Amino acid sequence: MDENLKRYIELIPKAELHVHIEGTFEPELMFEIAQRNNVSLNYNSVEDLRKAYEFNSLQDFLDIYYGAANVLLHEQDFYDLTMAYLQRAHADNVVHTEIFFDPQTHTERGVSFETVINGISNALKDAKTQLGISSKLIMCFLRHLSEQSALETLEEALPYKHKIIAIGLDSSEKGNPPSKFFNAFNRVREEGFFVVCHAGEEGPAEYVWEAIDLLEAERIDHGVASIHDETLMDELRDRDIPLTVCPLSNLKLKVVDDLKQVPIKAFLDKGMLVTLNSDDPSYFGGYVNDNYLQTAKALNLSRNDIYTLAKNSFTASFITAEERNAFIEKLHTFDKNFR
Ligand code: ADE
Ligand code: ZN
Repeated sequence: MDENLKRYIELIPKAELHVHIEGTFEPELMFEIAQRNNVSLNYNSVEDLRKAYEFNSLQDFLDIYYGAANVLLHEQDFYDLTMAYLQRAHADNVVHTEIFFDPQTHTERGVSFETVINGISNALKDAKTQLGISSKLIMCFLRHLSEQSALETLEEALPYKHKIIAIGLDSSEKGNPPSKFFNAFNRVREEGFFVVCHAGEEGPAEYVWEAIDLLEAERIDHGVASIHDETLMDELRDRDIPLTVCPLSNLKLKVVDDLKQVPIKAFLDKGMLVTLNSDDPSYFGGYVNDNYLQTAKALNLSRNDIYTLAKNSFTASFITAEERNAFIEKLHTFDKNFR
C-alpha cells in the first residue's frame, strides 16, 4: 500500500463504535490476572492460548471468549482490562470510543454488576483525564439467554443508568432473532436508552429488519447480510441507520472467505453510514487501524473513502451535536494539513 495512505489511516482521528471489552483481553493480561486471582486457565501458556484462536464460526469463538472471561473477578481486573484497551486505542488515534460490556457473563458467575461497571467506568474516567480519550458505555444482553434474564439485567442496571448510553444484543445470533427480545427492548426504550443490535453477522437480512422495525435499533452492529437485500440497504440509508462493520472479525469467524467480500465499498457507494471497527481485537488479529489498513488494501480504498469512514464514525456516535461538530472540525483540520 501507498506509504502516504498508510500514514493517513494511522493518524486520522477516528471513533470506534463496536468493541467488546471482554474481546480486548490480551493473553498476557489474562495470565497475569489468572495468576493473581488463583484461577486456572485451560491453557499452559500465552502461545498455547493464541494457537487456539482458529475459529470456524461465531460459536467457536464465543466458547473461548466466555471461558477467558472467567478469570475476571474484582473491580481492579475490569479496570486493568479497560485501561489496557483505552491505551491501545489511543495509540491508533481513536479519540472517542463506545464500548460494549456483557454483564450476564459475569453476574452468572457471581460477580456483582457493581464490580463490573465500577471497574470499567473508573478506567473510562481516568483515560479521559490521562489520555484525552472520550467514551460511552453500551450494555449488551446475551441473546442465547432468555428474555426474562435480559429484563432482570435491565433492572440491575437501572441504578447505574447515568453510566450507560445504549443497550444492545450480542452473542449467538442464529436461532436467537431480535424478536425474541421485543418486550425487553420496549422496556429499554421506556427507560430512555438508545438501542443497538448485532444483526446480519451470521444471521440473515431478515434479522436486520427485525432489529430496526421491532426493536427500533438506532445502529446495527455488523449488518453485512444487508448486502443481499436492496430494499433493506435503501431503508438503512434513508433512515440514517449506521452499520458498525468489523472486517477482521468477519474474516476470522468465516463470515467471509476473503476481506474483498466485506461489502464496505458497496455500502459506501450506496451512501450508507458505514463505519469500521475491531469487535474483539485480541482474538481477531487487529485493532481498529489494522481493520482500516487491511480493508483499504483489500478493497483499494481511496483517501477520500478513509475520510468518509472516519467522518461516519463521528456522525454515528451517541454524542451531542456540539461534540460531533468539534470532532468533525478536528478531522477536517487534520485532512487539510496532511502531507
Ligand atoms: N460477542 C463478542 N463478539 C461478538 C460477535 N462478533 N458477535 C456476537 N456476539 C459477540
Ligand atoms: Zn460484536
